[in-house]
Amino acid sequence: MIASKIIRVCAGTSKRLGRIFKVCRVDTIMMNKAAELLARSRFAVAFTGAGISAESGIPTFRGFNGLWKHYRPEELATPEAFRRNPELVWEFYRWRMGLIGKAKPNRAHLALAELEKMGVIKAVITQNVDDLHREAGSRRLIELHGNIFRVRCTSCAYRENLKDSGRLESFLREEKLPSCPICGSLLRPDVVWFGEPLPVNALDEAFRLAERSDLILVIGTSGIVYPAAYIPRIVKDRGGMVIEINTEESGITPIVDIFLMGKAGEIMNELVKRIGELMK
Ligand SMILES: NC(=O)c1ccc[n+]([C@@H]2O[C@H](COP(=O)([O-])OP(=O)(O)OC[C@H]3O[C@@H](n4cnc5c(N)ncnc54)[C@H](O)[C@@H]3O)[C@@H](O)[C@H]2O)c1
Ligand SMILES: [Zn+2]
Repeated sequence: MIASKIIRVCAGTSKRLGRIFKVCRVDTIMMNKAAELLARSRFAVAFTGAGISAESGIPTFRGFNGLWKHYRPEELATPEAFRRNPELVWEFYRWRMGLIGKAKPNRAHLALAELEKMGVIKAVITQNVDDLHREAGSRRLIELHGNIFRVRCTSCAYRENLKDSGRLESFLREEKLPSCPICGSLLRPDVVWFGEPLPVNALDEAFRLAERSDLILVIGTSGIVYPAAYIPRIVKDRGGMVIEINTEESGITPIVDIFLMGKAGEIMNELVKRIGELMK
């Protein structure tokens, strides 16, 4: 249950339903506390995962299971799978690009962009490849796992952002394997697959940001994919606070200072309002 719903329940039923009242008080207090900590923070960053895009209609990794021809993403998002069967992997990625291309940022993406404008959030570090933070207006964005709308050559340095070049629709309609316009070699999605290293610059920047942060807002990640999952731990080890928003407990939950259980869009919407009031 989200806090705003709980607050409404409280207003009418707190005397009769003592237990709900207790939950309500804890959640309302937690939400206010989180808003206060964010408003007072010196250098807060956000760290996001697939859960922040769930309300935009993009399935999380677990949600993908069985959604596409009964393959698991782990069987398709690997360099081995691409070497073995590039047609199958490209078919999967064209399907995903089409699905993600129709998605719009939700209230959580928009709230993070708003918090950046307000000077509260200094950067967003994401494991997502869906481009929704950029579309929502986040400016300082570190993409640890690449971007699904970019392709790159398997032989030369060629890279293309299909959204920027206006080629996305025609690219998705094609069925043949895509080839590099410079050298003719096979193109691949510019995303990080299982077993591949993360882009060095993005990871370095994320670690540097984490080292100077006094608060990290962790949203919608299972927190078990490394090295990305080190990021909240770096903040914690250096004495910073960790606030987590998730529909269930994650690998990060044991180190959090505040856990806000619920959907990212609903909680972030509430949080940004309260921070706005505190900063008036
Ligand atoms: N949108 C995307 O770009 C996308 C989608 C699927 C997978 N991935 C990849 O998945 C990998 C796995 O890591 P991950 O931790 O990002 O994803 P994950 O699928 O492992 O975990 C998603 C987390 O989000 C939580 N969650 C689900 N719905 C939520 C909601 N509405 N509000 C708040 N939390 C919610 C779940 O409880 C879970 O903890 C990443 O490397 C990422 O690149 C990305
Ligand atoms: Zn090339």
